[in-house]
Amino acid sequence: MQHFILLLSYLIGSISFIIGLKMLSHPDTARKGNLYAAVGMTIAILATIFLYTDENGNHLGNYLWIFGGLIIGTVVGTMIAKKVQMTAMPQMVSLFNGMGGACAAIISIVEFRHFIHKQENPSTNLIEDAMNAIAGVLHPHATATHANDKLILLTILLGLVIGTVSFFGSMIAFGKLNGNINDKTLAGQQVINIGLLLIVIVLIVAILTGFIGISITALFWTLFVIAALYGILFVMPIGGADMPVVISLLNSFTGVAAAFGGFLYSNPVMLTGGILVGSAGTILTMLMCKAMNRSLTNVIVGAFGGNAAASGISADAGGAFKEISLSDSAVLMAYSKKVVIVPGYGLAVAQAQHICHELEKLLEEKGVEVCYAIHPVAGRMPGHMNVLLAEADVPYEKLKEMEEINPEFAQTDVVLILGANDVVNPAAKTDPASPIYGMPILEVENASHVIVNKRSMKPGYAGIENMLFFQPKTSMLFGDAKKVLQDLVSELKSM
Ligand code: TAP
Repeated sequence: MQHFILLLSYLIGSISFIIGLKMLSHPDTARKGNLYAAVGMTIAILATIFLYTDENGNHLGNYLWIFGGLIIGTVVGTMIAKKVQMTAMPQMVSLFNGMGGACAAIISIVEFRHFIHKQENPSTNLIEDAMNAIAGVLHPHATATHANDKLILLTILLGLVIGTVSFFGSMIAFGKLNGNINDKTLAGQQVINIGLLLIVIVLIVAILTGFIGISITALFWTLFVIAALYGILFVMPIGGADMPVVISLLNSFTGVAAAFGGFLYSNPVMLTGGILVGSAGTILTMLMCKAMNRSLTNVIVGAFGGNAAASGISADAGGAFKEISLSDSAVLMAYSKKVVIVPGYGLAVAQAQHICHELEKLLEEKGVEVCYAIHPVAGRMPGHMNVLLAEADVPYEKLKEMEEINPEFAQTDVVLILGANDVVNPAAKTDPASPIYGMPILEVENASHVIVNKRSMKPGYAGIENMLFFQPKTSMLFGDAKKVLQDLVSELKSM
């Protein structure tokens, strides 16, 4: 009966992950989806803690360790998640993802020790082994029968490698996004990386077949060090603007590593969760590459984007630009038929989404049709603008994806760009030498008027000049996005 309830809890957990993931695909249902998946996970964890029994009928025990860890993790995780700014979300995802990778690697380390112990003491009842206490959720199948030994060992090794790469890679990604680590490419970096991967394969074969003749424990730890080195060197040279792709890729690695854990413990919910994370991460990685019109290989070896300040571009590289006053901007928009707002990273930093929504409502009251143009990589991660605007209660129907809005710019009177830069840079279409060449952009230059709000003429994240700012139909409206929008709202109210 107890086993039946345990399996039922796992089934409920797995179903809740699938439904939750599906609900995450729409802003209206995303919060609930997250909650459903979290509840499912809680059920699965509690069921494992209280209902799981080994073949001798023993419960897990170790409640102090288990609940101590759960409480510390919950408190720290909640505090970080509550405090984090939307613009720092990629760092947080990276950090949390790294923790998942570390867990997967630790499971492999614990299970490897078990494996060795079993080889040396075939008759010992491993369930009473001290390592059981560390693993917490060990399943007897983890030690398996002889027929499965090689498969179990391979699963352990793959979990170790992928989890370790994910942890160390995520930590480097975190440091880079936080500004603590700069992009660095070693001479012959790609050769070194391929070399490390080859060593990983050789070590795995050596551990499985014993052909090198060194103790497999020594080989195991060497494998761990090489995987850690690979994780660091793989992420190190990748450009700042490409970090979200790498984080998503590492996320899928963590999912796969967790799925190996589920396989080891014959735990269906862990397996389902791992596979879902692995496949969702892979799909997101592919979608992001598509949004930038680049292959994954190009992202990994291309080193696109980085420090704008380091680009050395002078403020007046593009020639003369013209400015527009707040009142002229307000009049221009109020007497337009159609205004399209392009939100970007600057809007997010200024936390100007609420006042932006107010501006949109005021314009609509004046009979202007208003909508938002959402570039798939606007801001600092895909979906950033959708979440930001949903937070300010902007109706989802007003958000138009790039493919939908691009043909509409020709019938647009005014485009108001708020803290966006790279995603409206025409060099992506016209300058083959540009690092963003080929990236699909919002074709704002087709509108009758373009108003660009930013604080200066400095470049955006990719660190490149934007010729849009110097075109005759473009006017610059300098200032912090929030302040400018507040002033625009006052102007419109007084009209
Ligand atoms: P950016 O190109 O970074 O431009 C943002 C602009 O906002 C800057 O030029 C900045 O100019 C301005 N700004 C900053 N603070 C502001 C404030 N308080 N008020 C008003 N303006 C402010 O942003 P974007 O157009 O959204 O493009 C996103 C970039 O990130 C792209 O390069 C994109 O490729 C990259 N990205 C990549 C990925 C992937 S998957 N690789 C994912 C997401 C994003 P001033 O300093 O002059 O104000």
